[in-house]
Amino acid sequence: MKLLTGLLYGALLAAEVAGKKLTASQVEGDIKKSKLKKTLSDLNKIGIANDGNRAFGLPGYKASLDYIVSIVEGKYGKYLDTYVQPFNHTFEQTRDIWVRGPDGEDVYVITLIYNNATPTPDGVTAELIPVPDDLERGSGCFEDQWEGIDATNKIVLVKRGSCAISDKLKLAKAHGALGAILINQTPGDNIGSATLSAENLGLIVPVGVIRYAVGTAWQERIAAGETLEVTLLVDSINETRESWNIITETKEGDPDNVVMLGAHLDSVQAGPGINDDGSGTAAILEVAKSFTNYKGYANKVRFAWWGAEESGLIGSLYYGSQLTSEEADKIRFYFNYDMIGSPYPVYSVYANNDGDKVGGDIIVKWLTKKGKDATYSEFESSSDYVAFLELGIPSSGIFTGADSETDPCYHLACDGIDNINWSALTLNAKTAGRAAAQFALSLEGVPARSQTTTNPKSKREVALSFDKWEAKVKVAGKQHSCAASGKIVV
Ligand SMILES: *[C@@H]1O[C@H](CO)[C@@H](O)[C@H](O)[C@H]1NC(C)=O
Ligand SMILES: *[C@@H]1O[C@H](CO)[C@@H](O)[C@H](O)[C@H]1NC(C)=O
Ligand SMILES: *[C@@H]1O[C@H](CO)[C@@H](O)[C@H](O)[C@H]1NC(C)=O
Repeated sequence: MKLLTGLLYGALLAAEVAGKKLTASQVEGDIKKSKLKKTLSDLNKIGIANDGNRAFGLPGYKASLDYIVSIVEGKYGKYLDTYVQPFNHTFEQTRDIWVRGPDGEDVYVITLIYNNATPTPDGVTAELIPVPDDLERGSGCFEDQWEGIDATNKIVLVKRGSCAISDKLKLAKAHGALGAILINQTPGDNIGSATLSAENLGLIVPVGVIRYAVGTAWQERIAAGETLEVTLLVDSINETRESWNIITETKEGDPDNVVMLGAHLDSVQAGPGINDDGSGTAAILEVAKSFTNYKGYANKVRFAWWGAEESGLIGSLYYGSQLTSEEADKIRFYFNYDMIGSPYPVYSVYANNDGDKVGGDIIVKWLTKKGKDATYSEFESSSDYVAFLELGIPSSGIFTGADSETDPCYHLACDGIDNINWSALTLNAKTAGRAAAQFALSLEGVPARSQTTTNPKSKREVALSFDKWEAKVKVAGKQHSCAASGKIVV
């Protein structure tokens, strides 16, 4: 025994010098709740110190970027290569919004991302014109729902839910309205934000979202024959601003066979984004740190912290649009980790096909082994995997839910340090580490990128197909504000 121990010890010492040998269990063991907590506590502080958010175009995002870069380039820089990728996108910020109700009262109202401005400082004052509720198709999204409504120089009152908000607001503009008051689709005080997408600036009417109870009371008064006049003010600025993705990869491993993990680093403007997506940000940071302990694994591991996800997946789509065909071929698998610590989690694992399931199975099997009810769900259009699916790269990832049951603080100011289920986050981060380690060791069974959609041969051709990406951005923006399931509040 003694001799054996001695031999093992010697072997371990030798391995220590060269870097230890990678195993999935070791990476799993490296990832600790305390470290995840430290990162999220730091990100929460960054939010608090920067007007409560870490959103695209604002100082909290830049501070988040500097924070991650200082870690991956600092203490761990010896083992990781880091590239900060700049891109530009339209920024909008509502500096002030208010609604004065028919009785002169101030009404609680929230804005949406890419809102349009009213004249300032008085806003618009006009009669409210209701658009009938359509709970099935969504209200006010289709031309036939506007029949017989003269909205000219009025403010429309319309229910949120089931269909794209931007469609309601475009039709309101087409029908001559000065603005729109959206009635939140669910009762209560928590009104979630959503993005209207930059492409709609100038094409929609200014909008404010009010509580369900207030809006439905107004609907009833109008139905009873009253004329209600309200004022809406939206003081909003828009301009192009620069933002950045962080791309970090292990120096170790074959550059022609890359396993990629991504999480978005930006929050919405409404809050510090600790579950969305501090959770994924912290998880992949721990995975990256773990890999710096090891040597001798086959494949390179690349980590991306995406910018401007909440504005319509802008950073990841930009990254995808800048890859040559050859570069895209080398990304063998993409794992997306966006919202993986929801307070009352479900364990959704993304996969659309068998190729995706080569990675998805690692996750499902491990979560199941740990007693969780992990189930497959199809990808939608609401997170950074879109660029990779578009490129035909096999992909998977974990998602713990964004609805009122799984995360009541989704897109709200209360998505802070207390909005995390620590055992779920820790397990999911460890699972992400295991999956990355297994693929770093071997990509056996992972199919090559499918190139049925497009096959751009060169950077120039990719640049020429940028239109297509812009179209994707539009769809993503729309999905962010409309889809009925997934990471969305309508
Ligand atoms: C972003 O815009 C600035 C200012 O117009 C420009 O200098 C910069 O090159 C742009 N960056 C990218 C990545 O297009
Ligand atoms: C965007 O900003 C420009 C320049 O400040 C302003 O004139 C325009 O009204 C804004 N657009 C919207 C839709 O708010
Ligand atoms: C965290 O999530 C698990 C499900 O994985 C659940 O059983 C547990 O009750 C949650 N913890 C808290 C504090 O809500």
